[in-house]
Amino acid sequence: MDRYEQVAELKAALRPLQQAGLRIGFVPTMGALHEGHLSLVRNALGRAEVVVASVFVNPLQFGPREDLDRYPRDLEGDAKKLEEAGCHVLFTPDSGVMFPPGFQTRVSVAELQKGLCGDRRPGHFDGVATVVAKLFGIVRPDVAVFGEKDFQQLALIRRMVADLNLDVEVVGAPLVREPDGLARSSRNAGLSEDERTRAVALSRGLFRARAAYGEGERSAAVLEGIVQKTLAEAQVEPEYVELRAFDGLERLERADAPCVLFVAAQVGSTRLIDNLILRRP
Ligand code: PAJ
Repeated sequence: MDRYEQVAELKAALRPLQQAGLRIGFVPTMGALHEGHLSLVRNALGRAEVVVASVFVNPLQFGPREDLDRYPRDLEGDAKKLEEAGCHVLFTPDSGVMFPPGFQTRVSVAELQKGLCGDRRPGHFDGVATVVAKLFGIVRPDVAVFGEKDFQQLALIRRMVADLNLDVEVVGAPLVREPDGLARSSRNAGLSEDERTRAVALSRGLFRARAAYGEGERSAAVLEGIVQKTLAEAQVEPEYVELRAFDGLERLERADAPCVLFVAAQVGSTRLIDNLILRRP
């Protein structure tokens, strides 16, 4: 695996491959990599000849009171995992490379950044859209793979790519879980033993709601209520529990068309998110 920290060097390495007609796959990350991230790399390997991953903890997407400094970092461990997964190129710019003095452009996806995580994290999705647009400009991938773990982010990137006519295919990959159901996340490392036990309430609640859906329940209030009750049993404070449309993410009163049940909650000092797609088999 080749590693680059500078934009010009990465571009110089990739352009001849692109000119030779090789397809470039791209997996942007913030590092502290786990099986969820690696599943995206493997997904990209099935779609492109050359797979590029980036590790960059993007300051633009962290709010003033958020955990930028606390965000886990393990660049050498990440490089090893990526290499083992078969990744070809790793891009690890620092903030000065990505946002040099004078940088002032923002990409803002007006509607999809509202609601869910957008309301609680003002400016977060502008930071995501801006850094992803910039990374797309640097890497110029044919295909980029994002996890359904961050479903709102995936929807927003799809919208940005369509709106700006960017020549990249955006692929959504399934959410990867721990054996007990907890969604894999770099933030799980911050949970104490007791918090880790209580954190399973998010996925347990979603699974219970899915079971009710399987038995014919279609009321959003009932499905959301099942998740809320499960969180309460584990003394987990919900931030939101919402049923929304699979396509445009509009809020729904009934789960008649394909939809997604979203949950976010604070467990101790760690903020966790999870979601489950509900559709008829
Ligand atoms: P990060 O949280 O590191 O996630 C990088 C990618 O991994 C995202 O597409 C995310 O959805 C995916 N991912 C994380 N956990 C996953 C899981 N359990 N199952 C499947 N996929 C999972 O998302 C970001 O970084 C940033 O916002 C980024 C897009 C890199 C822009 O800075």
